[in-house]
Amino acid sequence: MSKKHKETQTKAVGLITLTDPSSPVSEQYRTIRTNIQFASSVDRRLQTMVVTSSGPVEGKSTTSANLAVVFAKSGQRVLLVDADMRKPTVYKTFQLNNTVGLSTLLSTTKEVNEAIQPTVVDNLSILTSGPKPPNPSELLGSQRMNQVIQELKNYFDIIIFDMPPVVTVTDAQIMASKVDGTLLVVRENVTNKESLMKAKDLLKLVNAHVLGTVYNGATQTKDQGYYYY
Ligand SMILES: Nc1ncnc2c1ncn2[C@@H]1O[C@H](COP(=O)(O)OP(=O)(O)O)[C@@H](O)[C@H]1O
Ligand SMILES: [Mg+2]
Repeated sequence: MSKKHKETQTKAVGLITLTDPSSPVSEQYRTIRTNIQFASSVDRRLQTMVVTSSGPVEGKSTTSANLAVVFAKSGQRVLLVDADMRKPTVYKTFQLNNTVGLSTLLSTTKEVNEAIQPTVVDNLSILTSGPKPPNPSELLGSQRMNQVIQELKNYFDIIIFDMPPVVTVTDAQIMASKVDGTLLVVRENVTNKESLMKAKDLLKLVNAHVLGTVYNGATQTKDQGYYYY
């Protein structure tokens, strides 16, 4: 495959932090990283975080993947978990096999090290969603999920969970209650105010530690997107 083809392919999946690390959008992802690092303290360490939004196609997966890349580039050991077992996309973005993943860990006796995959990015590993299970919420709410999180914390400095929307299904709420922090993605011209309010209420209900809102600008594909935290 020619270099040009490869780049186009990566761009198509939206990882601007890999294809154009010096772009303003990539810089904004690094700013978010810095803000998260500053929010992490000895008393309240931010090792696990959920990325969600009120509704679909607002940029949860784009944000999770790019944040995972910039954290890895800062030398931290990063795991990106595709915890959206309903509409998984991480395996496509990183062009990985999805026959074994999170759903497998939660429903079989497979060990975490048999399910985690390395990526082309140094320090960045991925746990794909695995095959679609009939009961994602029950799996995420299980005691086994708590064990998996505990175990992963031994191997990684930062674990990012890419989630389904918080308003339509309970998965993100369940996970937000288990992790150290939650990022809420808002997309220009897509997110509506009422559902954003609803999302915040739902997260509050489970005592989620909302770190902030990531504003996903409408023109990101033109490399002029605007992120703010
Ligand atoms: N700011 C943006 N500008 C243009 N396209 C975007 C932007 N953010 C996300 N997208 C695109 O929108 C689609 C949905 O994004 P994704 O991150 O998968 O959303 P979600 O995970 O919230 O459903 C993807 O094709 C992605 O490349
Ligand atoms: Mg997604």
